[in-house]
Amino acid sequence: MGLDLPQLQAPDSLMLTGFWYRALPADRVQRNQLRKAMLLGIPLVIGRDPRGHAFALRDACPHRGMPLHCGRFDGENLECSYHGWQFDVHNGQCQLIPSLTADQKLKVDRIYAGSYPCEEQDGFIWAYIPDPSPQGAGFTQRAEAPGPAPQIEKFSAKYKTAYLTAEMPVSIDHGIIGLMDPAHGPFVHQAWWWRSRHSIHEKQKNFEPIPNGFRMSAHTPSSNSAPYKLLRLYADADSITTTIDFVLPNLRTEIIRAGKYWFSSLTTVTPITRNQCRIDVVAAWNLFRWLPFGPELLKFVFAKFVEQDRRTMELQAEGLQYNPHLMLIDDADRPAKWYFQLKAAYLEARRNRVPMKHPMSGPVTLKWRS
Ligand code: FES
Ligand SMILES: [Fe+2]
Repeated sequence: MGLDLPQLQAPDSLMLTGFWYRALPADRVQRNQLRKAMLLGIPLVIGRDPRGHAFALRDACPHRGMPLHCGRFDGENLECSYHGWQFDVHNGQCQLIPSLTADQKLKVDRIYAGSYPCEEQDGFIWAYIPDPSPQGAGFTQRAEAPGPAPQIEKFSAKYKTAYLTAEMPVSIDHGIIGLMDPAHGPFVHQAWWWRSRHSIHEKQKNFEPIPNGFRMSAHTPSSNSAPYKLLRLYADADSITTTIDFVLPNLRTEIIRAGKYWFSSLTTVTPITRNQCRIDVVAAWNLFRWLPFGPELLKFVFAKFVEQDRRTMELQAEGLQYNPHLMLIDDADRPAKWYFQLKAAYLEARRNRVPMKHPMSGPVTLKWRS
């Protein structure tokens, strides 16, 4: 290792189906409202019924394609604005076709608008995007999700949460490997109160395989994370441990614990279209409940980082426009390589209907300067 030539690696930008994805911040959809959203190139209409339950439908009427967000929602059914077909918002089943006469025997309840399992979790509305099934042209019931939407792990009853979101004009692959890339820190995330590029130093981190992903093992952080710097003000530095997981298709979990204090975040990079993704950082913590400016400070630091990443990827998109050759080097880009290998292994397993073969055979130590 280390002697390998840099590998040419073409991100395929393939968007993985069969997973839950964050669709919209929950506070953007009030009761009885409809909102547009786009996931994996699929236009959706997201809404909330009078009891507060969210739903997700494909934003195209199965009759002749009228966007359903143009329709009227009566609290139970959504009525298409073109010919008035009505659909149950929670399963997409057609309830009424107004043009049918009494002697016309079309079975209305066999027709479905595209419908997606929908859940609210930690301030976001999630939708489950199933593997594409053979299109029954409006006669297929929706696929159910194999499990609940991902949640942030919390370690006490009382905590606060906040979220940040930013869109980036790059494919899901570049969004994700940009998130896990340790080497851009000194160049992109400079700030006088944070670090300069001269603070670059050698680091060594241990990684291990976990189901569908990999973990940067629990360690005392070297100092480069925002909550860590704040946490050090509260707790004895030696008691602080941090664990960072990446799990397919797009989940990055970071958990920092110091005695009774904890900070936990779930960051996702969501494919919107082939050339566009969105980063959503949702954090929960019990650190600063008695300190009035704590959350604002944390949010300020995160917002700054996310904006620096967003701006960088916006510029990168210019370079990527004409398909340049790219290379990934050891060890700094190894997590990116694992991401591509995991993705390939997942697709392979699904194609052959066999359990996924994990690309890592055991723990690995990586070294880099950042
Ligand atoms: S297009 Fe929706 S009812 Fe005709
Ligand atoms: Fe970054």
